[in-house]
Amino acid sequence: VQLKVLGSAAGGGFPQWNCGCVSCRTVRQGGNRALPRRQSSLAVRGSSGYWHLVNASPDVREQLESLRDPHDDRLRSNPIASVILTDAEIDHTAGLIILRESAQPLDIYGTPAVEHALRAGFPVLEVLDRYCGVRWHTLDPDGTFELQGEGTVALEVETFAVPGDPPLHMRGRKAIEEGLAIGLVFRDPESGGVATYAPAVGELDARLLERFEASDVILVDGTFWRDDELPSQGIGIRTALDMGHLPLSGAEGMLARLRHLEGVRKVLIHINNSNPILLENSPEREMVEEAGFEVAHDGMLIEI
Ligand code: MLT
Ligand code: MN
Ligand code: ZN
Repeated sequence: VQLKVLGSAAGGGFPQWNCGCVSCRTVRQGGNRALPRRQSSLAVRGSSGYWHLVNASPDVREQLESLRDPHDDRLRSNPIASVILTDAEIDHTAGLIILRESAQPLDIYGTPAVEHALRAGFPVLEVLDRYCGVRWHTLDPDGTFELQGEGTVALEVETFAVPGDPPLHMRGRKAIEEGLAIGLVFRDPESGGVATYAPAVGELDARLLERFEASDVILVDGTFWRDDELPSQGIGIRTALDMGHLPLSGAEGMLARLRHLEGVRKVLIHINNSNPILLENSPEREMVEEAGFEVAHDGMLIEI
């Protein structure tokens, strides 16, 4: 399985257009202490076969350009065979509208809760129905599905529900609570490689830990360093846990809980611009590395 990180930042990207926090100012001022990052998105493919886009960020146009073969001379062709959605948040779905130019209906995978949110709160599916069309593939929040390659199964995919609140665009509307957010396990039947992608981990229970232990690589929620990161910087009122993201630091944080996970490559993704680990010479970045984690960057290619 090949995984290409198309966007390693959380919503807003890095720097965020309206943000003057220390990290955003540092990256804006240039220098080599921080790399700019696009919004959360991943491309995945089996040993053979097509790329699939996992989450369609507002930066999708530039992100897909990086997947295109410059020698592909077909007049119209999609660099991706499908889009898989882990939730209905704006940072993972706003890019769908950019894909309206597709010459074929878009194949999109998501749970019923995600489909409902994309029809009721942020009705992008209805709009796309009138442009390129949508072929919706319903995912069970705890199930399996297959992505086909050329005449073979390219990837076996397992879904698992993670706790999550409805997106803000669902405020005042009735959401389907089950399956609002999921994680994905990709298994390549050819190489045997197993990769787990979980951009929102609000709770790290024994079942999730088992999934992580059984993976060759995990791409896991690195959104916030502290639970009160936004309130303490005066740039938000919700805590990390309120937003469904376990913070990295603290005795019960992600680093402490996963530092002893052995034989598994651990990569942090979906990193918010307020998070000091984005600054390469910060003490927090050093703590991340000392706990055996890598910090994802845009263009990072993982092959297992
Ligand atoms: C999240 O990852 O928690 C969401 O994208 C946050 C939001 O945009 O409200
Ligand atoms: Mn997000
Ligand atoms: Zn910022």
